[in-house]
Amino acid sequence: MPRPIQTAIWSRQAQWMLTQSRRRLGPTFTLQIAYEGKWVIVSDPEMIKQVFTGDPKVFHAGEGNEILRPLLGKFSLLTLDDGAHMSQRKLLLPPFHGRRMAGYEESMREIAGREIERWPTGVPYQLRPRMQAMTLDIILATVFGVEGGERLSPLRESLRAFLDMLTDPRFIVPLLGLGPDRIRSFPPFRRRVDRVAALIGREIADRRVAGDLEERDDILSLLVAARHEDGSPMSDAEIHDELLTLLVAGHETTATALSWAIERLIRHPDKLSRLRDEVAAGEDAYLTATIQETLRLRPVIVIVIRRLTEAIKLGGYDLPAGLSVVPSIHLVHRDPTIYPEPDRFLPERFLETPPGTYTWIPFGGGVRRCLGAAFAQQEMAIVLEELVARRVIEPTDPAPERNMRRAITETPRRNTEVVLS
Ligand code: HEM
Repeated sequence: MPRPIQTAIWSRQAQWMLTQSRRRLGPTFTLQIAYEGKWVIVSDPEMIKQVFTGDPKVFHAGEGNEILRPLLGKFSLLTLDDGAHMSQRKLLLPPFHGRRMAGYEESMREIAGREIERWPTGVPYQLRPRMQAMTLDIILATVFGVEGGERLSPLRESLRAFLDMLTDPRFIVPLLGLGPDRIRSFPPFRRRVDRVAALIGREIADRRVAGDLEERDDILSLLVAARHEDGSPMSDAEIHDELLTLLVAGHETTATALSWAIERLIRHPDKLSRLRDEVAAGEDAYLTATIQETLRLRPVIVIVIRRLTEAIKLGGYDLPAGLSVVPSIHLVHRDPTIYPEPDRFLPERFLETPPGTYTWIPFGGGVRRCLGAAFAQQEMAIVLEELVARRVIEPTDPAPERNMRRAITETPRRNTEVVLS
């Protein structure tokens, strides 16, 4: 198919296109989308393993994200490769480790409970925008360390405006058209980015002189205290770029995954009621399995991209430098040889068999694996626990929601419409 037609289909129905292509062409095939070079889609777990464990100098992930540079800055983990990527990643890893994660639980639970109590009962209500409000507040509390007080509202509002810009075609189309360099001078863009930068700059400056830095466990405080290998602190620009990156990478994704979890559960009342019973009994195995199954069946992101800096051999193919190898999350998650009855929502499947490193890949893999994977799953678990414990949730329409593309995420088309009681 000509590139513009492939692009048009991809932008509306990426999962359908992947499934149809595999059906017609087999597990490995090429696509040509927008201005991207050729993509070789791979869906065989052995090949995916080779990609994720391959030399990061050969499999570049940051290069393909350069369009994000004017938004997130030149230090953003998402846009870097090689040594620069590893050095930022090392600084960002400690705040996402187990011990730290437990420290975020209280804030997550508090914000989730407060938000859920505000939701109206007895009327049709769209959960996805509310999930977004909740995940934004959770990031503000745990990442920025801003949980209340007079600073919360301006920060929340300016970040909201910034995030909305990223999913609004009126901004995204000029962004793509102008390219990463000229977009900087586009006034509506400039205004939002500058406002966010000023507010974040103020938080960083305050934290640098805070007397209680040692006791604080928000990620901003940890980054202020972090040191590069040569002992130097992170610059304001580095911290700014990474905070924005965590916000952009962690906010809409988690809200969308939560929306899908509810969307699937309410259409399987037996599973919802098992989840409610197990949560009430203080068990978390079914909760974990529900989250894993949601991320399998409705992955928020359907592919990850690695651009080759050198020619490689992969699964019997000779692939030249410059080409992108693209593990398809969607295809491997729907492979019937790995997951019997792959289109069914069956959390039980993960009670017996834990997810495999190269067959369950909603968070990608290797040295680029999602930094917030544990954070997101903990947040999902807490929000689901709070929600099923506090409310009865029913769909307004028995028909499943189809997916719809919002920027790079696949979201429920009707925004997870429910009636709560
Ligand atoms: C359910 C929610 C989420 C999903 C489905 C998700 C998915 C992903 C995926 C697919 C990648 C690319 C991995 C690769 O290329 O192999 C990624 C990268 C990343 N994610 Fe997440 N993510 C989620 C939540 C979060 C959260 C909560 C945070 C932080 C608070 C976060 C921070 C990041 C960062 C910083 C990267 C870039 C890692 C790097 O390039 O080294 N994500 N995520």
